[in-house]
Amino acid sequence: MGAGIAQVAAVAGHRVIVYDNNEASLHKADKGLSATLQKLEEKGKVANAAEILGRLSYTNNLNDLADCGLVIEAVIENLGIKQQLFTALERQVCDECILASNTSSLSITAIAAACQRPERVVGLHFFNPPPLMALVEVIPAIQTDPSLIERAKVLMTAWGKLPVVAKDTPGFIVNRVARPFYGEALRIYEEGLADMATIDWAMTSIGGFRMGPFTLMDYIGHDVNYVVTETVFQSFFYDPRYKPSFSQKRLLEAGWLGRKSGRGFYNYAEGTALPELVKDELLGKQIVERIMAMLINEAVEALYLRIATIADLETAMTKGVNYPKGLLQWCDDWGAAHVLALLDHLYQQYGEDRYRASVLLRRKAQEGSLFLS
Ligand SMILES: NC(=O)c1ccc[n+]([C@@H]2O[C@H](COP(=O)([O-])OP(=O)(O)OC[C@H]3O[C@@H](n4cnc5c(N)ncnc54)[C@H](O)[C@@H]3O)[C@@H](O)[C@H]2O)c1
Repeated sequence: MGAGIAQVAAVAGHRVIVYDNNEASLHKADKGLSATLQKLEEKGKVANAAEILGRLSYTNNLNDLADCGLVIEAVIENLGIKQQLFTALERQVCDECILASNTSSLSITAIAAACQRPERVVGLHFFNPPPLMALVEVIPAIQTDPSLIERAKVLMTAWGKLPVVAKDTPGFIVNRVARPFYGEALRIYEEGLADMATIDWAMTSIGGFRMGPFTLMDYIGHDVNYVVTETVFQSFFYDPRYKPSFSQKRLLEAGWLGRKSGRGFYNYAEGTALPELVKDELLGKQIVERIMAMLINEAVEALYLRIATIADLETAMTKGVNYPKGLLQWCDDWGAAHVLALLDHLYQQYGEDRYRASVLLRRKAQEGSLFLS
């Protein structure tokens, strides 16, 4: 992620110093960025690769960051390590330097708490790969100087990104609102209502998603996707809406991490036939309705709890995870009353808190009003 963010900043015209405490990582970033920028020049996507590469330098010495105006931290996802780094960074940089974290799941507030000047700390959450994904979640900690939010948005826009502002809560926008795409699909699979190939077919062919949940989980890797789910679940004080699945946990334990290890939910060994799927339109519609009702409810609840604005929630899901349309638009198109009826039916059937509808969805259904006009 660090190398990708460095590329974005250098292409935008900044002098960038890539810092890592591991020589091999620095070397990999240097080689990778040279190759990538040269390729982009050949394709006509950047004008002068040599000039951009000339703006990039590499170091394993934190002292070299003394003149930076902005530091974007993207080290491993560990609060203690990030806090130590922020404390050490603050000793090097000037008082005006902005300190940002690219954390996916940690509290920006907790990271900022390690600083003498926590008001200069903000979350800048890029998506993978940073040069291709337009979305950046801007996350102010509770200590962040409010004027920094606007400055961060202006800077990200200048870098060609689409910034959205998210409250400092677990998963921010995308990693919170997207959970049911995986979680509800896993639940349907575990209950035996449909097999994974059929669920993937339903979500792509009927739902219009680019990838089905199982293909996508295999693509992301279960070491990442499962861990995000577990972290979000724990961070939400074990709210059953975010409960992880044993099927996915077992894959992780077996080392069947997905595409990268040759096996996940699917087997990627050459010559392996794809599992048979059931192209039953009625079953497909039921699958899509159940997963979509859960996703829409999650977006509505995020709006109700003021995690983000309507516009930012829509941008986040269409640009951060390429959903075919925003979830609040989806709610308007289906009608809040229909989505509510789907959820209330699930709630009655299972008696689980997991299926509780957002009070805002209930209100919208009663009023018959829309989220977007
Ligand atoms: N991978 C993703 O899809 C993704 C997406 C968005 C955000 N993130 C976040 O970005 C961060 C990095 O993720 P990644 O996937 O690039 O991880 P990674 O393991 O590929 O890279 C982390 C780098 O940090 C270096 N590092 C570790 N400890 C360090 C220290 N104390 N000082 C300096 N360098 C140190 C490592 O040498 C390594 O090069 C995490 O916070 C993660 O949550 C990841």
